[in-house]
Amino acid sequence: MKDLVYLKTNVVPEPLFAGWYAWPHLISPATAAMNITDRHLKIMNSYIQAPQIHAAAVKNPKMLGGPFMDFADKNRAEDVKKLKEQTLASQKKMIELSAALRSLNKMLMHEAKGYSLESLYAKVPECLKGYVELYYDVNNQPGFRLFEPLMYNSEYYDPSYQSVALYLIEQDDRPFVLSTPRLDSQHVLHLHIPFEHKGIDELFKMQRTPNSYSRICQLLGISEEEEEIFRTFFTEEAPEPYHKYEGEGIRTRYFGHACILVESKDVSILSDPVISYGYDAEVARYTYTELPDVIDYVVITHNHQDHILLETMLQLRHKIKNIIVPKNGGGNLQDPNLRLMFNRVGFHNVIEIGEMDKIELPGCTITGLPFLGEHADLDIRTKLCHHVKLEHMSILFAADSCNVEPKLYEHVQRMIGNIDVMFLGMECDGAPLTWLYGPLMTEQLERDKDQSRRLAGSNYERGIDLVNRFRPQEVYVYAMGQEPWLNYIMTVKYTEDSNPIVASNRLIKDCESHGITAERLFGEKEILYGVSMEMSK
Ligand SMILES: [Fe+2]
Ligand SMILES: [Fe+2]
Repeated sequence: MKDLVYLKTNVVPEPLFAGWYAWPHLISPATAAMNITDRHLKIMNSYIQAPQIHAAAVKNPKMLGGPFMDFADKNRAEDVKKLKEQTLASQKKMIELSAALRSLNKMLMHEAKGYSLESLYAKVPECLKGYVELYYDVNNQPGFRLFEPLMYNSEYYDPSYQSVALYLIEQDDRPFVLSTPRLDSQHVLHLHIPFEHKGIDELFKMQRTPNSYSRICQLLGISEEEEEIFRTFFTEEAPEPYHKYEGEGIRTRYFGHACILVESKDVSILSDPVISYGYDAEVARYTYTELPDVIDYVVITHNHQDHILLETMLQLRHKIKNIIVPKNGGGNLQDPNLRLMFNRVGFHNVIEIGEMDKIELPGCTITGLPFLGEHADLDIRTKLCHHVKLEHMSILFAADSCNVEPKLYEHVQRMIGNIDVMFLGMECDGAPLTWLYGPLMTEQLERDKDQSRRLAGSNYERGIDLVNRFRPQEVYVYAMGQEPWLNYIMTVKYTEDSNPIVASNRLIKDCESHGITAERLFGEKEILYGVSMEMSK
């Protein structure tokens, strides 16, 4: 092989934290601590006790997304035992932090009875002293907020537990990230580098620009033994060239789920990046090769694992100019700050916006709009819909917002007017609260309460209300998690009778009967606006 090579376009960099697939709650220290004790260790204990139950459960479609490890019929109990022991040893501090957060909460529940909280600072667990402020809300209910920036600079944030597992992918199936740790395997090269490592950018630049193989080996500290696998990640063959959109109007491309690329000749915007690799597959899709060399703005709607995929973000980091995230800063355990999270993993171009805040660019305005519900009634502020005005077109990315109170968007419509194109999530069943937030709950929630509080998007009534309210000419249902390459982050498999399909079919039919172009997106789709000829795939 020559020294000047390209990186193949199907090299996966799985970001790992202490052996588990890293998602934003494993970066922010307090949520990471709670997930170690109340997700990872629990699943590991259960697997060690009965690996056969896990092997059977992952084959049962009713158990999809449940807390079961998926090692495709292999018994990995010995390896899981090892990982558990490593976790107990290396994550001692985090395990202590998790216990401290629980005991702080308990102490406040028992002792904060409406009197001054000053005396209770002495009772804050030692390891949390100086990292929390105690408060009452106006109903005299006690709580605490974390000084997140300080925690990132404490022993509770240790990038040495981050690593990147590199391997070649040839097909869609991958085990679900919230329940299956990533154990060593023959074809996987495990790089012990933090996510902010500059070598990651240099490596992924090589997808498009060839560079020296020996240089990248040196940069990433590849040993001679590791080279056997590492070498297989490269090719002398140049990828298909990418043609930046230079036409009039706007080109919109759907990459799957909530990931949409909007391009004019002057600006490119990518929403909730989750992108497939290129390999022979039944369902056609856009892949990493169909992205521009520079992405002006990545816009993030909310902090769910299917909307912020670090694996995709790390590969794009070198080409992203700005990331727009919803702001918070409240220090609530369940609502970690996204700017701090992104900064820590090597993104230094993060812009926080709040509800109705605007980013004005020449010929383009991006406005953050209120995003309602979909977070199991938890006080989570890190969520925004986006309104993009570009080349005289007005586009709404409603993401998973659950229109439980139509008055909200009535107020919003009065401020922003009608829109031309609406992208709307209708995953209206949703998982129960504990599926994602269980490890953060300090008190057990009864099953019926848990089932009633869901991570659900708009149903037919709520969706059609948005359509009637904003009067778009085109409506696209998206973010349904149906693309086969998403099964490692989403576990929903719908049939024609599933509520989200029935609801979105009904909405589409309704729209069509009123002369509105409507479709549920799946796989890939290109739509051109403001050009003489409209063509779509
Ligand atoms: Fe969501
Ligand atoms: Fe979602």
